[in-house]
Amino acid sequence: MKLSVKKAFALVMAATLTFAMTACAGTADPAPSSEAAPVSEEAPASEEAPASEEAAPASEDTGEVKRIGLSMPTKSLQRWNQDGDNMKAAFEAAGYEVDLQYGGENEVPVQVSQLENMIAADVDILVVAAIDGESLSEVLATAKEKNIPVISYDRLIMNTDAVTYYATFDNWKVGTLQGTYLEEALDLKNAEGPFNIEFFTGDPGDNNINFFYGGAMEVLQPYLDSGKLVCPSKQTEQSVVATVAWSSENSQNRMDNLISSNGYGPSGTKLDAVMCSNDSTAQGVTTALVNAGYTAENIPLITGQDCDVISVKNMIAGTQAMSVFKDTRTLSETVVEMVDAILTGSEPPINDTETYDNGTGVIPSFLCDPVYASVENYEELLVDTGYYTADQLAN
Ligand code: BGC
Repeated sequence: MKLSVKKAFALVMAATLTFAMTACAGTADPAPSSEAAPVSEEAPASEEAPASEEAAPASEDTGEVKRIGLSMPTKSLQRWNQDGDNMKAAFEAAGYEVDLQYGGENEVPVQVSQLENMIAADVDILVVAAIDGESLSEVLATAKEKNIPVISYDRLIMNTDAVTYYATFDNWKVGTLQGTYLEEALDLKNAEGPFNIEFFTGDPGDNNINFFYGGAMEVLQPYLDSGKLVCPSKQTEQSVVATVAWSSENSQNRMDNLISSNGYGPSGTKLDAVMCSNDSTAQGVTTALVNAGYTAENIPLITGQDCDVISVKNMIAGTQAMSVFKDTRTLSETVVEMVDAILTGSEPPINDTETYDNGTGVIPSFLCDPVYASVENYEELLVDTGYYTADQLAN
């Protein structure tokens, strides 16, 4: 008898999450800086998972434990360390063997060769968060030849019919939450304006930015058209406001340039808001603005996503206005259920069969729900649910 996914998940989540969060928070610089330091791959997630032979889903013919190839994009952002650790622990608790690999520092050839190795080792299933959604067609064609199912994790892998299912958050909603926050905070419906705003989104190879940026612009574009919102740099095209590798250093550099070319500053050109698609880009923007003399009292409204430890601290300190909480525990749990269903020949959880076309057709998806987060509700969302401890968020 196999341990139910939910039960196994509950058993390990507390221990593993606490470990992952401690590791991330423990290395985070309380000053608004760039990414959290990497958590060691040697994280004792597996040791903490109750190893139960009973729990192992044995292959019918060989009696062997099924193996999952888990490919994450980078160790340089808190998000992926957390996701990798969560899933490894959850899979192991459900009785699977896991090969967890990170693609160096967002290095596509590294991710491709890790996938090649997993396929050559005949893993039973692949779960992949792509660095560049356009670069995996060739390697995944080999997975398809070997009938290895592929779950696209968080980011849609494009232009390959090897992708079986997609598990992610409602990425359009992430963008509309950010846009709606700015609409309300600036009272765009009623105020006269005009308000000055700049825009930052993420890596051009990440299909998610079409949804994040598209969702935010659905709300904000009408105000740019009417002149109530003004982008002084005129940089509003998605390709122009993209941030390679979602890197805080890159967003900080671009914000530095925007500050000097537009004269932004507490006593210079007024800047009311900076729409950032996620926390790592927001952190770079915060750093640039604080370096230019802004304080919590006069800093423009900065949006984000992920509730990274550094960004939650910035929200508490008043140097980031909001974030979007995507509970990665829910996403991991969904993926374990999907894998379980695929490998036992039953129906995986799917709640969207329309939105995500990867160029070869719509990929059946499960979308988890993203939630607005700010200094007002972070305790309830993050501390009360055990996602972080209050200590981890202490400035
Ligand atoms: C994820 C975000 C994350 C970003 C950078 C996106 O694909 O959906 O949660 O902030 O990548 O890692």
